[in-house]
Amino acid sequence: MSTPNQGRLHVSFRPSDRARQALETLPGPVTCAADPSGQTRAELLSDVRGAAALVCLLTDRVDAELLDAAGPSLRVVANMAVGHDNIDAAACAARGITVTNTPGVLDEATADLAFALLLATSRRVVEADAFVRSGEPWSWRPDLFVGLDVSSGATLGIVGLGRIGLAMARRARAFDMRIVATPSRSAGVEATRLGIETLPLPDLLVASDVVSLHCPLTPETRHLIGDEELRLMGPGSVLVNTARGPIVDEAALAAALADGTIGAAGLDVFENEPAVHPDLLALRNVVLLPHIGSAGRATRDRMAMLAIDNARAVLAGEPAPTPVHP
Ligand code: GLV
Repeated sequence: MSTPNQGRLHVSFRPSDRARQALETLPGPVTCAADPSGQTRAELLSDVRGAAALVCLLTDRVDAELLDAAGPSLRVVANMAVGHDNIDAAACAARGITVTNTPGVLDEATADLAFALLLATSRRVVEADAFVRSGEPWSWRPDLFVGLDVSSGATLGIVGLGRIGLAMARRARAFDMRIVATPSRSAGVEATRLGIETLPLPDLLVASDVVSLHCPLTPETRHLIGDEELRLMGPGSVLVNTARGPIVDEAALAAALADGTIGAAGLDVFENEPAVHPDLLALRNVVLLPHIGSAGRATRDRMAMLAIDNARAVLAGEPAPTPVHP
């Protein structure tokens, strides 16, 4: 039996040891970038030339320019992320290139971080830590860093009740929160079991003490949360974003946090990542993280292994385990 011509697989970042072991079992040639944080655009455009598979990061823009640079040999683009807004899926489909992502393996890690942001913002953890470190004299007092009571009937509004939204809801259920969510086709019986009420977005924003975003970035969700939505949330409310930065109008958010339109925000993602709106950097009622939602050790290995397995499958002529359908 002849071995199908596998072609070269290019990885746009330095893989972990586990991922490297998996790459070594592949029948075809593999090239890997040297830097764990990825490649410059110029390096990627050059290294992808003639490749049959690309395993890439969410920071790699996979557009017509990159596909042209790769040439007709490219058969699969395997994103090591569940979000795939960095990939022009239509341009890939037009060239017969399969696009895959990594759903299911990072839900718990991402929900853990979203809930960490929920608690940190609601109970002002980072602000209070900075206060202690400042050396200012203090003693216990009834009004010191008073925040939102999370477990006493606070309402969590989930925008995007997919796998990660549901994982967030399970955590909120354990904290006895009331949970509301925007309508979702995929929620099903688990949403019913968790007692999640469905509300249209404007009603959800009014009803929620904390709004947590878990929807993908699409043309429909770009700036889903802007001036008007922040006003609906109201003073004292909290916004958590572990999804994608451009879902929120960052300038409007910075203004709303500065003038008390909302109470606080916890952000793991930014509109022009890695740049952060300068007004946000100056505020104390916002917790800022460098896009680490899925940054659990085992989770990151699972993401890399799934991305590699997607690429391997397509090169072997098998169906990809987790294709993205344009
Ligand atoms: C991370 O942001 C991901 O989409 O996996």
